[in-house]
Amino acid sequence: MVKICCIGAGYVGGPTMAVIALKCPSIEVAVVDISVPRITAWNSDQLPIYEPGLEDVVKECRGRNLFFSTDVEKHVREADIVFVSVNTPTKTRGLGAGKAADLTYWESAARMIADVSKSDKIVVEKSTVPVKTAEAIEKILTHNSKGINFQILSNPEFLAEGTAIEDLFKPDRVLIGGRETPGGQKAIQALKDVYAQWVPEDRILTTNLWSAELSKLAANAFLAQRISSVNAMSALCEATGANVSQVAYAVGKDSRIGPKFLNASVGFGGSCFQKDILNLVYICECNGLPEVAEYWKQVIKINDYQKTRFVNRVVASMFNTVSGKKVAVLGFAFKKDTGDTRETPAIDVCKGLLGDKAKLSIYDPQVNEDQIQRDLSMNKFDWDHPLHLQPMSPTTVKQVSVVWDAYTATKDAHAVCILTEWDEFKTLDYQKIYDNMQKPAFIFDGRNVVDMEKLREIGFIVYSIGKPLDAWLKDMPLSLNCITWLEWLCSDIKDIS
Ligand code: NAI
Repeated sequence: MVKICCIGAGYVGGPTMAVIALKCPSIEVAVVDISVPRITAWNSDQLPIYEPGLEDVVKECRGRNLFFSTDVEKHVREADIVFVSVNTPTKTRGLGAGKAADLTYWESAARMIADVSKSDKIVVEKSTVPVKTAEAIEKILTHNSKGINFQILSNPEFLAEGTAIEDLFKPDRVLIGGRETPGGQKAIQALKDVYAQWVPEDRILTTNLWSAELSKLAANAFLAQRISSVNAMSALCEATGANVSQVAYAVGKDSRIGPKFLNASVGFGGSCFQKDILNLVYICECNGLPEVAEYWKQVIKINDYQKTRFVNRVVASMFNTVSGKKVAVLGFAFKKDTGDTRETPAIDVCKGLLGDKAKLSIYDPQVNEDQIQRDLSMNKFDWDHPLHLQPMSPTTVKQVSVVWDAYTATKDAHAVCILTEWDEFKTLDYQKIYDNMQKPAFIFDGRNVVDMEKLREIGFIVYSIGKPLDAWLKDMPLSLNCITWLEWLCSDIKDIS
Protein backbone atom coordinates (compact mmCIF):
# COMPACT_ATOMS: atom_id res chain seq x y z
CA MET A 1 0.00 0.00 0.00
CA VAL A 2 1.34 3.43 -0.96
CA LYS A 3 1.57 5.71 2.06
CA ILE A 4 1.13 9.45 1.81
CA CYS A 5 1.83 11.91 4.60
CA CYS A 6 0.87 15.58 4.42
CA ILE A 7 2.59 18.04 6.75
CA GLY A 8 0.13 20.86 7.53
CA ALA A 9 -3.55 20.18 8.28
CA GLY A 10 -4.82 23.57 7.12
CA TYR A 11 -7.21 24.87 4.47
CA VAL A 12 -5.17 23.11 1.77
CA GLY A 13 -3.72 20.04 3.49
CA GLY A 14 -7.00 18.92 5.11
CA PRO A 15 -9.39 19.03 2.13
CA THR A 16 -6.77 17.94 -0.46
CA MET A 17 -5.78 14.86 1.46
CA ALA A 18 -9.37 14.00 2.35
CA VAL A 19 -10.20 13.93 -1.37
CA ILE A 20 -7.11 11.84 -2.20
CA ALA A 21 -8.18 9.37 0.50
CA LEU A 22 -11.72 9.27 -0.88
CA LYS A 23 -10.68 8.74 -4.49
CA CYS A 24 -7.81 6.36 -3.77
CA PRO A 25 -8.99 3.76 -1.25
CA SER A 26 -5.78 1.76 -1.74
CA ILE A 27 -3.63 4.63 -0.46
CA GLU A 28 -3.18 5.34 3.25
CA VAL A 29 -3.17 9.08 3.90
CA ALA A 30 -1.96 10.67 7.15
CA VAL A 31 -2.37 14.41 7.70
CA VAL A 32 -0.05 15.69 10.42
CA ASP A 33 0.33 19.03 12.15
CA ILE A 34 2.18 20.53 15.10
CA SER A 35 -1.05 22.22 16.19
CA VAL A 36 -2.77 19.95 18.72
CA PRO A 37 -6.12 21.86 18.64
CA ARG A 38 -6.24 21.60 14.84
CA ILE A 39 -5.68 17.84 14.82
CA THR A 40 -8.14 17.37 17.70
CA ALA A 41 -10.73 19.27 15.66
CA TRP A 42 -10.05 17.19 12.53
CA ASN A 43 -10.70 14.09 14.64
CA SER A 44 -13.96 15.51 16.06
CA ASP A 45 -17.42 16.34 14.72
CA GLN A 46 -16.49 20.04 14.58
CA LEU A 47 -13.93 20.26 11.78
CA PRO A 48 -11.48 23.17 12.09
CA ILE A 49 -12.52 24.71 8.77
CA TYR A 50 -15.88 25.25 7.11
CA GLU A 51 -16.06 24.07 3.51
CA PRO A 52 -19.23 22.84 1.78
CA GLY A 53 -19.08 19.05 1.28
CA LEU A 54 -15.93 18.56 3.37
CA GLU A 55 -17.63 16.94 6.33
CA ASP A 56 -19.13 14.15 4.19
CA VAL A 57 -15.76 13.34 2.61
CA VAL A 58 -13.96 13.28 5.97
CA LYS A 59 -16.64 11.16 7.60
CA GLU A 60 -16.44 8.59 4.85
CA CYS A 61 -12.65 8.13 4.98
CA ARG A 62 -11.56 9.01 8.51
CA GLY A 63 -10.34 5.90 10.32
CA ARG A 64 -10.44 3.91 7.03
CA ASN A 65 -7.52 5.26 5.00
CA LEU A 66 -7.44 8.86 6.29
CA PHE A 67 -5.82 9.71 9.61
CA PHE A 68 -5.11 12.98 11.41
CA SER A 69 -2.21 12.97 13.85
CA THR A 70 0.28 15.09 15.73
CA ASP A 71 2.88 12.34 15.48
CA VAL A 72 4.57 14.12 12.62
CA GLU A 73 7.85 12.20 12.65
CA LYS A 74 6.32 8.71 12.67
CA HIS A 75 4.08 9.37 9.68
CA VAL A 76 6.81 11.13 7.71
CA ARG A 77 9.19 8.24 8.36
CA GLU A 78 6.66 5.71 7.08
CA ALA A 79 5.52 7.64 4.00
CA ASP A 80 6.51 7.09 0.37
CA ILE A 81 5.22 10.51 -0.67
CA VAL A 82 5.39 13.52 1.69
CA PHE A 83 3.34 16.59 0.81
CA VAL A 84 4.39 19.80 2.51
CA SER A 85 1.42 22.15 2.91
CA VAL A 86 2.58 24.45 5.68
CA ASN A 87 1.95 28.19 5.74
CA THR A 88 4.27 30.45 3.75
CA PRO A 89 3.37 33.92 5.03
CA THR A 90 4.87 37.29 4.20
CA LYS A 91 8.03 38.07 6.18
CA THR A 92 7.47 40.65 8.88
CA ARG A 93 11.09 41.20 9.82
CA GLY A 94 14.55 41.35 8.27
CA LEU A 95 15.55 41.13 4.61
CA GLY A 96 12.54 41.37 2.28
CA ALA A 97 10.12 42.09 5.15
CA GLY A 98 6.66 43.13 3.94
CA LYS A 99 7.16 41.32 0.62
CA ALA A 100 9.23 38.14 0.62
CA ALA A 101 7.78 34.77 1.63
CA ASP A 102 8.75 33.57 5.08
CA LEU A 103 9.99 30.03 4.55
CA THR A 104 10.69 29.32 8.24
CA TYR A 105 7.90 26.75 8.49
CA TRP A 106 8.89 25.14 5.21
CA GLU A 107 12.56 24.92 6.15
CA SER A 108 11.85 23.38 9.53
CA ALA A 109 9.58 20.79 7.86
CA ALA A 110 12.31 19.97 5.33
CA ARG A 111 14.97 19.58 8.05
CA MET A 112 12.66 17.32 9.99
CA ILE A 113 12.05 15.15 6.89
CA ALA A 114 15.80 14.81 6.41
CA ASP A 115 16.29 13.94 10.10
CA VAL A 116 13.68 11.23 10.46
CA SER A 117 13.68 9.55 7.03
CA LYS A 118 15.03 6.02 6.72
CA SER A 119 13.81 5.27 3.16
CA ASP A 120 13.64 7.05 -0.22
CA LYS A 121 10.87 9.63 -0.53
CA ILE A 122 9.14 11.91 -2.96
CA VAL A 123 8.74 15.32 -1.32
CA VAL A 124 5.96 17.41 -2.84
CA GLU A 125 5.71 21.18 -2.52
CA LYS A 126 2.00 21.82 -2.00
CA SER A 127 2.45 25.21 -0.34
CA THR A 128 2.81 28.21 -2.61
CA VAL A 129 6.51 29.03 -2.61
CA PRO A 130 8.86 31.41 -4.40
CA VAL A 131 10.23 30.10 -7.69
CA LYS A 132 13.47 28.15 -7.04
CA THR A 133 12.42 27.03 -3.55
CA ALA A 134 12.75 23.40 -4.65
CA GLU A 135 16.46 23.99 -5.18
CA ALA A 136 16.87 25.20 -1.58
CA ILE A 137 14.79 22.31 -0.27
CA GLU A 138 16.86 19.86 -2.29
CA LYS A 139 20.01 21.25 -0.69
CA ILE A 140 18.58 20.85 2.82
CA LEU A 141 17.47 17.30 2.11
CA THR A 142 20.56 16.07 0.28
CA HIS A 143 23.05 17.64 2.71
CA ASN A 144 21.40 15.81 5.58
CA SER A 145 20.18 12.68 3.82
CA LYS A 146 22.43 9.85 5.02
CA GLY A 147 22.33 8.34 1.52
CA ILE A 148 18.55 8.48 1.13
CA ASN A 149 17.23 9.52 -2.29
CA PHE A 150 14.78 12.43 -2.21
CA GLN A 151 12.95 13.58 -5.32
CA ILE A 152 11.36 17.02 -5.08
CA LEU A 153 8.19 17.80 -6.98
CA SER A 154 6.18 20.98 -7.22
CA ASN A 155 2.43 20.36 -7.17
CA PRO A 156 0.83 23.74 -6.38
CA GLU A 157 -2.78 23.76 -5.28
CA PHE A 158 -5.36 25.72 -7.27
CA LEU A 159 -8.45 25.12 -5.13
CA ALA A 160 -10.53 28.10 -4.07
CA GLU A 161 -11.89 28.29 -0.55
CA GLY A 162 -15.67 27.98 -0.48
CA THR A 163 -15.60 25.57 -3.45
CA ALA A 164 -12.60 23.49 -2.39
CA ILE A 165 -14.26 20.08 -2.58
CA GLU A 166 -15.86 20.80 -5.95
CA ASP A 167 -12.51 22.10 -7.25
CA LEU A 168 -10.67 19.02 -5.97
CA PHE A 169 -13.22 16.64 -7.47
CA LYS A 170 -13.06 18.32 -10.87
CA PRO A 171 -9.89 20.38 -11.13
CA ASP A 172 -9.34 22.54 -14.23
CA ARG A 173 -5.84 21.11 -14.12
CA VAL A 174 -3.38 19.40 -11.83
CA LEU A 175 0.14 20.70 -12.27
CA ILE A 176 3.20 18.60 -11.47
CA GLY A 177 6.71 19.96 -11.92
CA GLY A 178 9.84 17.87 -11.50
CA ARG A 179 13.45 17.44 -12.51
CA GLU A 180 14.10 16.43 -16.10
CA THR A 181 16.21 13.47 -14.94
CA PRO A 182 15.12 9.79 -15.00
CA GLY A 183 14.60 9.96 -11.22
CA GLY A 184 12.58 13.17 -11.55
CA GLN A 185 10.41 11.72 -14.31
CA LYS A 186 9.76 8.55 -12.29
CA ALA A 187 8.64 10.66 -9.34
CA ILE A 188 6.33 12.71 -11.60
CA GLN A 189 4.79 9.47 -12.87
CA ALA A 190 4.24 8.20 -9.31
CA LEU A 191 2.31 11.36 -8.36
CA LYS A 192 0.48 11.35 -11.68
CA ASP A 193 -0.71 7.80 -10.91
CA VAL A 194 -2.33 9.11 -7.71
CA TYR A 195 -4.28 11.90 -9.43
CA ALA A 196 -5.09 9.74 -12.47
CA GLN A 197 -7.42 7.71 -10.26
CA TRP A 198 -10.03 10.45 -10.72
CA VAL A 199 -8.61 13.28 -12.85
CA PRO A 200 -8.68 12.83 -16.67
CA GLU A 201 -5.18 12.39 -18.04
CA ASP A 202 -5.36 15.50 -20.27
CA ARG A 203 -5.91 17.65 -17.19
CA ILE A 204 -2.69 16.53 -15.52
CA LEU A 205 0.03 18.84 -16.76
CA THR A 206 3.70 18.15 -16.23
CA THR A 207 6.43 20.78 -16.43
CA ASN A 208 9.86 21.49 -15.06
CA LEU A 209 10.10 22.51 -11.40
CA TRP A 210 10.49 26.23 -11.93
CA SER A 211 7.55 26.52 -14.32
CA ALA A 212 5.28 24.76 -11.84
CA GLU A 213 6.39 26.98 -8.95
CA LEU A 214 6.02 30.15 -10.99
CA SER A 215 2.68 29.13 -12.53
CA LYS A 216 1.00 29.24 -9.14
CA LEU A 217 2.26 32.77 -8.40
CA ALA A 218 1.34 33.83 -11.94
CA ALA A 219 -2.18 32.36 -11.71
CA ASN A 220 -2.91 34.20 -8.46
CA ALA A 221 -1.46 37.42 -9.83
CA PHE A 222 -3.65 37.17 -12.97
CA LEU A 223 -6.78 36.47 -10.92
CA ALA A 224 -6.15 39.35 -8.53
CA GLN A 225 -5.34 41.61 -11.46
CA ARG A 226 -8.79 41.00 -12.95
CA ILE A 227 -10.40 42.06 -9.68
CA SER A 228 -8.27 45.17 -9.44
CA SER A 229 -9.04 45.98 -13.09
CA VAL A 230 -12.80 45.84 -12.59
CA ASN A 231 -12.49 47.68 -9.27
CA ALA A 232 -10.52 50.45 -10.98
CA MET A 233 -13.37 50.66 -13.51
CA SER A 234 -15.90 50.83 -10.67
CA ALA A 235 -14.41 54.13 -9.50
CA LEU A 236 -14.72 55.52 -13.01
CA CYS A 237 -18.30 54.22 -13.26
CA GLU A 238 -19.26 56.13 -10.12
CA ALA A 239 -17.67 59.27 -11.50
CA THR A 240 -19.42 59.02 -14.88
CA GLY A 241 -22.79 57.40 -14.22
CA ALA A 242 -21.89 54.11 -15.90
CA ASN A 243 -22.90 50.88 -14.17
CA VAL A 244 -20.00 48.51 -13.45
CA SER A 245 -22.17 45.38 -13.69
CA GLN A 246 -23.23 46.36 -17.20
CA VAL A 247 -19.67 47.25 -18.18
CA ALA A 248 -18.30 43.97 -16.76
CA TYR A 249 -21.01 41.97 -18.52
CA ALA A 250 -20.28 43.64 -21.86
CA VAL A 251 -16.54 43.20 -21.44
CA GLY A 252 -16.83 39.59 -20.26
CA LYS A 253 -18.93 38.62 -23.29
CA ASP A 254 -15.74 38.88 -25.34
CA SER A 255 -14.60 35.28 -25.52
CA ARG A 256 -10.98 36.42 -25.30
CA ILE A 257 -11.74 37.91 -21.87
CA GLY A 258 -14.52 35.72 -20.43
CA PRO A 259 -17.01 36.51 -17.67
CA LYS A 260 -15.37 35.11 -14.53
CA PHE A 261 -13.74 37.16 -11.78
CA LEU A 262 -15.20 40.42 -13.02
CA ASN A 263 -17.38 41.28 -10.03
CA ALA A 264 -16.58 44.69 -8.59
CA SER A 265 -16.34 44.72 -4.81
CA VAL A 266 -14.79 46.36 -1.79
CA GLY A 267 -11.61 44.46 -2.66
CA PHE A 268 -10.09 41.01 -2.70
CA GLY A 269 -8.94 39.20 0.42
CA GLY A 270 -7.89 35.74 1.47
CA SER A 271 -4.61 34.33 2.55
CA CYS A 272 -3.07 34.09 -0.91
CA PHE A 273 -3.56 36.93 -3.39
CA GLN A 274 -1.76 39.72 -1.55
CA LYS A 275 0.95 37.51 -0.12
CA ASP A 276 1.68 35.82 -3.43
CA ILE A 277 1.78 39.08 -5.39
CA LEU A 278 4.08 40.68 -2.82
CA ASN A 279 6.25 37.63 -3.15
CA LEU A 280 6.20 37.94 -6.96
CA VAL A 281 7.14 41.62 -6.66
CA TYR A 282 10.06 40.71 -4.41
CA ILE A 283 11.28 38.01 -6.80
CA CYS A 284 11.12 40.47 -9.72
CA GLU A 285 13.10 43.04 -7.74
CA CYS A 286 15.70 40.43 -6.78
CA ASN A 287 16.04 39.47 -10.43
CA GLY A 288 16.67 43.08 -11.53
CA LEU A 289 13.21 43.61 -13.04
CA PRO A 290 11.91 46.77 -11.32
CA GLU A 291 9.40 47.60 -14.10
CA VAL A 292 7.79 44.17 -13.83
CA ALA A 293 7.73 44.49 -10.04
CA GLU A 294 6.06 47.91 -10.29
CA TYR A 295 3.41 46.55 -12.66
CA TRP A 296 2.28 43.85 -10.22
CA LYS A 297 2.52 46.20 -7.23
CA GLN A 298 -0.29 48.25 -8.78
CA VAL A 299 -2.69 45.32 -8.32
CA ILE A 300 -2.22 45.61 -4.55
CA LYS A 301 -2.32 49.40 -4.61
CA ILE A 302 -5.70 49.41 -6.38
CA ASN A 303 -6.99 46.90 -3.85
CA ASP A 304 -5.94 49.16 -0.98
CA TYR A 305 -7.39 52.15 -2.82
CA GLN A 306 -10.74 50.37 -3.18
CA LYS A 307 -10.96 49.70 0.58
CA THR A 308 -9.98 53.30 1.36
CA ARG A 309 -12.52 54.60 -1.13
CA PHE A 310 -15.26 52.51 0.50
CA VAL A 311 -14.50 53.83 4.00
CA ASN A 312 -14.25 57.37 2.72
CA ARG A 313 -17.60 56.98 0.97
CA VAL A 314 -19.24 55.78 4.20
CA VAL A 315 -17.82 58.63 6.24
CA ALA A 316 -18.41 61.34 3.63
CA SER A 317 -22.03 60.29 3.09
CA MET A 318 -22.77 60.41 6.79
CA PHE A 319 -21.92 64.14 7.18
CA ASN A 320 -18.20 63.44 7.25
CA THR A 321 -18.21 61.65 10.57
CA VAL A 322 -19.20 58.30 12.01
CA SER A 323 -17.97 59.16 15.47
CA GLY A 324 -20.22 57.53 18.09
CA LYS A 325 -22.58 56.17 15.41
CA LYS A 326 -23.54 52.54 15.35
CA VAL A 327 -22.55 50.93 12.05
CA ALA A 328 -23.73 47.38 11.35
CA VAL A 329 -21.23 45.24 9.49
CA LEU A 330 -22.79 42.28 7.68
CA GLY A 331 -20.17 39.73 6.74
CA PHE A 332 -16.60 39.46 7.92
CA ALA A 333 -15.20 36.41 6.08
CA PHE A 334 -13.19 37.24 2.98
CA LYS A 335 -15.88 35.62 0.82
CA LYS A 336 -19.06 33.61 1.20
CA ASP A 337 -19.11 29.93 2.15
CA THR A 338 -15.96 30.12 4.23
CA GLY A 339 -15.19 31.15 7.79
CA ASP A 340 -11.70 32.26 6.73
CA THR A 341 -10.91 35.86 7.64
CA ARG A 342 -7.28 36.02 6.55
CA GLU A 343 -6.67 39.36 4.80
CA THR A 344 -10.42 39.91 4.52
CA PRO A 345 -11.21 43.48 3.35
CA ALA A 346 -13.56 43.65 6.36
CA ILE A 347 -10.54 44.04 8.63
CA ASP A 348 -9.28 47.15 6.86
CA VAL A 349 -12.76 48.62 6.44
CA CYS A 350 -13.60 48.05 10.13
CA LYS A 351 -10.27 49.48 11.23
CA GLY A 352 -10.94 52.53 9.04
CA LEU A 353 -14.37 53.07 10.60
CA LEU A 354 -12.97 52.50 14.09
CA GLY A 355 -10.32 55.09 13.27
CA ASP A 356 -13.18 57.55 12.86
CA LYS A 357 -14.62 56.32 16.19
CA ALA A 358 -17.62 54.38 14.86
CA LYS A 359 -19.27 51.76 17.07
CA LEU A 360 -19.39 48.51 15.14
CA SER A 361 -21.91 45.71 15.44
CA ILE A 362 -20.65 42.81 13.37
CA TYR A 363 -22.45 39.70 12.16
CA ASP A 364 -21.06 36.87 10.06
CA PRO A 365 -22.73 33.45 9.91
CA GLN A 366 -19.39 31.60 10.10
CA VAL A 367 -17.01 33.82 12.07
CA ASN A 368 -17.06 33.97 15.85
CA GLU A 369 -16.34 36.86 18.21
CA ASP A 370 -12.86 35.70 19.27
CA GLN A 371 -11.70 35.56 15.67
CA ILE A 372 -13.10 39.02 14.85
CA GLN A 373 -11.61 40.64 17.95
CA ARG A 374 -8.26 39.02 17.26
CA ASP A 375 -8.29 40.15 13.63
CA LEU A 376 -9.12 43.73 14.56
CA SER A 377 -6.36 43.99 17.12
CA MET A 378 -3.59 42.36 15.13
CA ASN A 379 -0.94 44.14 13.09
CA LYS A 380 -0.94 43.66 9.33
CA PHE A 381 0.81 40.42 8.24
CA ASP A 382 0.80 39.01 11.78
CA TRP A 383 -2.22 36.77 11.21
CA ASP A 384 -0.18 34.06 9.57
CA HIS A 385 2.52 34.04 12.21
CA PRO A 386 0.76 32.29 15.06
CA LEU A 387 3.88 32.45 17.18
CA HIS A 388 3.92 36.25 17.08
CA LEU A 389 0.27 36.95 17.94
CA GLN A 390 -0.21 40.45 19.30
CA PRO A 391 -2.20 41.04 22.48
CA MET A 392 -5.69 42.48 22.00
CA SER A 393 -6.10 46.22 22.24
CA PRO A 394 -8.81 47.06 24.79
CA THR A 395 -9.98 50.23 22.94
CA THR A 396 -10.77 48.28 19.78
CA VAL A 397 -12.63 45.62 21.72
CA LYS A 398 -14.85 48.20 23.44
CA GLN A 399 -16.04 49.75 20.17
CA VAL A 400 -16.90 46.39 18.63
CA SER A 401 -19.73 44.03 19.42
CA VAL A 402 -20.24 40.75 17.62
CA VAL A 403 -23.77 39.40 17.35
CA TRP A 404 -25.42 36.30 15.92
CA ASP A 405 -28.00 37.70 13.51
CA ALA A 406 -28.40 40.51 11.03
CA TYR A 407 -31.45 42.04 12.73
CA THR A 408 -29.68 42.50 16.06
CA ALA A 409 -26.64 43.94 14.27
CA THR A 410 -28.72 46.52 12.41
CA LYS A 411 -31.06 47.55 15.25
CA ASP A 412 -30.66 51.28 15.97
CA ALA A 413 -27.78 51.49 13.51
CA HIS A 414 -27.17 54.57 11.38
CA ALA A 415 -25.67 52.52 8.57
CA VAL A 416 -25.24 48.99 7.28
CA CYS A 417 -22.05 47.92 5.48
CA ILE A 418 -22.25 44.64 3.56
CA LEU A 419 -18.74 43.24 3.33
CA THR A 420 -19.25 39.55 2.41
CA GLU A 421 -21.62 38.27 -0.28
CA TRP A 422 -23.40 35.67 1.89
CA ASP A 423 -26.60 34.57 0.12
CA GLU A 424 -28.71 35.27 3.20
CA PHE A 425 -28.01 39.01 2.88
CA LYS A 426 -29.98 39.04 -0.39
CA THR A 427 -33.18 37.88 1.27
CA LEU A 428 -33.21 39.80 4.56
CA ASP A 429 -36.40 41.67 5.50
CA TYR A 430 -35.02 45.10 4.65
CA GLN A 431 -38.31 46.83 5.52
CA LYS A 432 -37.97 45.50 9.07
CA ILE A 433 -34.32 46.54 9.16
CA TYR A 434 -35.21 50.04 7.92
CA ASP A 435 -37.97 50.43 10.51
CA ASN A 436 -35.52 49.66 13.33
CA MET A 437 -32.68 51.91 12.15
CA GLN A 438 -31.82 55.58 12.81
CA LYS A 439 -32.80 57.94 9.99
CA PRO A 440 -31.53 58.72 7.46
CA ALA A 441 -30.74 55.03 7.09
CA PHE A 442 -27.75 54.14 4.91
CA ILE A 443 -26.73 50.92 3.21
CA PHE A 444 -23.23 50.62 1.77
CA ASP A 445 -23.10 47.46 -0.30
CA GLY A 446 -19.48 46.42 -0.77
CA ARG A 447 -20.44 43.25 -2.66
CA ASN A 448 -23.31 44.36 -4.88
CA VAL A 449 -25.77 41.86 -3.40
CA VAL A 450 -28.82 44.02 -2.69
CA ASP A 451 -31.51 45.29 -5.04
CA MET A 452 -30.75 49.01 -4.91
CA GLU A 453 -34.06 50.13 -6.38
CA LYS A 454 -36.14 48.15 -3.88
CA LEU A 455 -34.11 49.52 -0.99
CA ARG A 456 -34.44 53.07 -2.26
CA GLU A 457 -38.22 52.57 -2.43
CA ILE A 458 -38.18 51.55 1.23
CA GLY A 459 -36.37 54.79 2.05
CA PHE A 460 -32.71 53.78 2.37
CA ILE A 461 -29.86 55.85 0.99
CA VAL A 462 -27.98 53.17 -0.92
CA TYR A 463 -24.42 53.01 -2.18
CA SER A 464 -23.30 50.06 -4.29
CA ILE A 465 -19.79 49.75 -5.69
CA GLY A 466 -19.55 51.09 -9.22
CA LYS A 467 -23.28 51.88 -9.55
CA PRO A 468 -24.79 55.27 -10.45
CA LEU A 469 -24.92 57.44 -7.32
CA ASP A 470 -28.21 58.76 -5.99
CA ALA A 471 -28.74 62.47 -5.33
CA TRP A 472 -27.69 62.25 -1.69
CA LEU A 473 -24.34 60.65 -2.46
CA LYS A 474 -23.70 63.12 -5.30
CA ASP A 475 -24.24 65.95 -2.82
CA MET A 476 -21.76 64.41 -0.39
CA PRO A 477 -18.63 64.01 -2.50
CA LEU A 478 -15.61 62.22 -1.12
CA SER A 479 -13.81 65.05 0.61
CA LEU A 480 -10.15 65.38 -0.10
CA ASN A 481 -9.24 65.76 3.52
CA CYS A 482 -11.25 62.69 4.49
CA ILE A 483 -9.39 60.38 6.86
CA THR A 484 -6.16 59.06 5.51
CA TRP A 485 -6.88 55.97 7.52
CA LEU A 486 -4.91 53.56 5.44
CA GLU A 487 -1.78 55.47 6.36
CA TRP A 488 -2.80 55.29 9.97
CA LEU A 489 -3.53 51.62 9.58
CA CYS A 490 -0.20 50.89 7.98
CA SER A 491 1.85 53.03 10.35
CA ASP A 492 2.84 49.91 12.26
CA ILE A 493 4.34 48.31 9.18
CA LYS A 494 6.07 51.40 7.76
CA ASP A 495 9.38 50.32 9.25
CA ILE A 496 9.33 47.03 7.47
CA SER A 497 7.95 47.83 4.01
P1 NAI B 1 -2.92 27.02 7.03
O1 NAI B 1 -2.29 28.05 7.89
O2 NAI B 1 -4.39 26.81 7.10
O3 NAI B 1 -2.26 25.59 7.36
C1 NAI B 1 -0.89 25.39 7.51
C2 NAI B 1 -0.69 24.40 8.65
O4 NAI B 1 0.68 24.02 8.69
C3 NAI B 1 -1.02 24.96 10.04
O5 NAI B 1 -2.03 24.18 10.64
C4 NAI B 1 0.32 24.86 10.80
O6 NAI B 1 0.15 24.52 12.16
C5 NAI B 1 1.00 23.76 10.04
N1 NAI B 1 2.45 23.75 10.20
C6 NAI B 1 3.32 24.78 10.08
N2 NAI B 1 4.59 24.34 10.26
C7 NAI B 1 4.51 23.01 10.49
C8 NAI B 1 5.49 22.00 10.74
N3 NAI B 1 6.79 22.28 10.76
N4 NAI B 1 5.07 20.73 10.96
C9 NAI B 1 3.75 20.43 10.93
N5 NAI B 1 2.78 21.34 10.69
C10 NAI B 1 3.16 22.62 10.46
O7 NAI B 1 -2.46 27.33 5.55
P2 NAI B 1 -3.22 26.96 4.19
O8 NAI B 1 -4.25 27.96 3.87
O9 NAI B 1 -3.59 25.52 4.21
O10 NAI B 1 -2.04 27.19 3.15
C11 NAI B 1 -0.93 26.33 3.06
C12 NAI B 1 -0.15 26.67 1.82
O11 NAI B 1 -0.97 26.46 0.67
C13 NAI B 1 0.31 28.12 1.75
O12 NAI B 1 1.55 28.15 1.12
C14 NAI B 1 -0.73 28.78 0.86
O13 NAI B 1 -0.20 29.87 0.17
C15 NAI B 1 -1.05 27.65 -0.11
N6 NAI B 1 -2.38 27.72 -0.70
C16 NAI B 1 -3.47 28.11 0.03
C17 NAI B 1 -4.73 28.14 -0.54
C18 NAI B 1 -5.92 28.55 0.26
O14 NAI B 1 -6.97 28.75 -0.35
N7 NAI B 1 -5.83 28.69 1.57
C19 NAI B 1 -4.94 27.76 -1.94
C20 NAI B 1 -3.74 27.32 -2.60
C21 NAI B 1 -2.52 27.33 -2.00
